[in-house]
Amino acid sequence: MHAGRDGLLAAGILGVACLVLHLDFISCVSQPIYGTVNMSVTLYTSGSIPIKDIMWRKKKDKVVEWDEELLKPRAYPPFVDRVHLDVTSGNLTIFNLTSSDEEDYEVELSSITDTKFTLYVIEPLPFPTLNCTFTAENITVRCRIPENYSSHINLIKYSWNCFSEQCQNSTNSSEVSIKRESDLSQEIQCIISNPLSKQASSLVLATCVPDNSRHSFVIIAAVLFVVILAMFVWLYKRDFLKRGGERDRTEKEAINDRNSDPTSRLHPTP
Ligand SMILES: *[C@@H]1O[C@H](CO)[C@@H](O)[C@H](O)[C@H]1NC(C)=O
Ligand SMILES: *[C@@H]1O[C@H](CO)[C@@H](O)[C@H](O)[C@H]1NC(C)=O
Ligand SMILES: *[C@@H]1O[C@H](CO)[C@@H](O)[C@H](O)[C@H]1NC(C)=O
Ligand SMILES: *[C@@H]1O[C@H](CO)[C@@H](O)[C@H](O)[C@H]1NC(C)=O
Ligand SMILES: *[C@@H]1O[C@H](CO)[C@@H](O)[C@H](O)[C@H]1NC(C)=O
Ligand SMILES: *[C@@H]1O[C@H](CO)[C@@H](O)[C@H](O)[C@H]1NC(C)=O
Ligand SMILES: *[C@@H]1O[C@H](CO)[C@@H](O)[C@H](O)[C@H]1NC(C)=O
Ligand SMILES: *[C@@H]1O[C@H](CO)[C@@H](O)[C@H](O)[C@H]1NC(C)=O
Repeated sequence: MHAGRDGLLAAGILGVACLVLHLDFISCVSQPIYGTVNMSVTLYTSGSIPIKDIMWRKKKDKVVEWDEELLKPRAYPPFVDRVHLDVTSGNLTIFNLTSSDEEDYEVELSSITDTKFTLYVIEPLPFPTLNCTFTAENITVRCRIPENYSSHINLIKYSWNCFSEQCQNSTNSSEVSIKRESDLSQEIQCIISNPLSKQASSLVLATCVPDNSRHSFVIIAAVLFVVILAMFVWLYKRDFLKRGGERDRTEKEAINDRNSDPTSRLHPTP
């Protein structure tokens, strides 16, 4: 089922054709109309025919009928107490929609087929879930519809909201790739929509990649540790050699002292 802009355009053109041609009994192609489960929807007439009687049908089954002799419109199961028929316009409102109401509908006004609809009954959209993966170059964000949602998935469109033009360009794509060198502190938002509503979820891109700041902190700490350890080793070695040298010297000095005259002891060499 194609229900995009083209579909609506075609429906519009056919709607005009309907108004012009219905007097020649040429029936119109049905237009898509959307309703939400448990809510209501109004199917309408062209409003161009003086109304003496009204008959709304779902496929070939009667939904509700009215003529000038009936005081009140007569509804048929399962639409009893669930429809409102406006007898001046012929508009039909169906309340508490269920998925079994999804079908082709048409109305006859004064025994002339007026308008035709294909009714789609849709569950309210859930929030999409966002998942991301990364490569050396890119972060890829995927937008998913929860698995337990299965109502007219093909009517759902994806769009994205973010700073990058890679987002803006991805029309009806469930995933988008962002360069890793971008500003990852920003949010990326996925919007899913159907003809009745939209729902959005977002995430901060930085949560998709390992925490770089902590990573570099660990590296800095490791480098510092090695440097400090090297300094200790160096200091210890220097200290050890110096003390060993001093011991050597004192021994030599002691030997020298024994052999030298007392005056030289008053002027020790530095
Ligand atoms: C519709 O209404 C019924 C009964 O009130 C409820 O059980 C059900 O969850 C509703 N469905 C939605 C999609 O709201
Ligand atoms: C019938 O529906 C049409 C289309 O939605 C609307 O323009 C018109 O006002 C409605 N008529 C009445 C009486 O509600
Ligand atoms: C829709 O259904 C609810 C219960 O599911 C009921 O209370 C309400 O009256 C119904 N609305 C109409 C217009 O029939
Ligand atoms: C998102 O990814 C996580 C781990 O990578 C996984 O456990 C989860 O099932 C994914 N969610 C969806 C909706 O794909
Ligand atoms: C899908 O599952 C979630 C919880 O995982 C729940 O809240 C939601 O109502 C479910 N939706 C449907 C349509 O079953
Ligand atoms: C959007 O794309 C998905 C597949 O990615 C497709 O099933 C769906 O019909 C498309 N929706 C529209 C409105 O084009
Ligand atoms: C996005 O689209 C514009 C034109 O609409 C184009 O100039 C640009 O190169 C595209 N960018 C990418 C990443 O595809
Ligand atoms: C990264 O993304 C760009 C466009 O979004 C794509 O052309 C390129 O191949 C990707 N690189 C990798 C390694 O996936």
